[in-house]
Amino acid sequence: MANETPVSIKVNGKEEQRDVEPRLLLAHFLREDLGLTGTHIGCDTTQCGACTVLIDGKSVKACTVFAVQADGSEVTTIEGVGAEGELHPVQEGFWEEHGLQCGYCTPGMIMSGIHLLNENKNPSEQEIREGISGNFCRCTGYQHIVNAIQYAAKKG
Ligand code: FES
Ligand code: FES
Repeated sequence: MANETPVSIKVNGKEEQRDVEPRLLLAHFLREDLGLTGTHIGCDTTQCGACTVLIDGKSVKACTVFAVQADGSEVTTIEGVGAEGELHPVQEGFWEEHGLQCGYCTPGMIMSGIHLLNENKNPSEQEIREGISGNFCRCTGYQHIVNAIQYAAKKG
């Protein structure tokens, strides 16, 4: 299309080059252009956090960023976390502490948890609750999510 702009974004360690419309949100770029559907979309008001990814190591709601704004950045999605048979400590925490029910919020929660622990290796319960305050969960009541992140913090 005439008004498309080239972008080059490293996603989960792989350089991705596409021509995109300037209005394309990063969340849609990840899901629709790259097929990385682990980045969920749970609202259209930037509230739920289901779309959380890391951009250059910082947690960001991918529905609030245009793909063109991520040009030149490194993006990590849930698909880039852990490996088969080798869960990331935060993923392991969600597994061990039953940090999910329906799982819709989980990818975003995990990305927020990873960012939190990158910034603060030993967060208090209050700091964990603040760290995930941009992520909504309709199912768990949050306590098991907090436990999951505490589990990961203890694992180091
Ligand atoms: S989809 Fe809800 S905050 Fe991004
Ligand atoms: S586990 Fe269902 S929304 Fe969190």
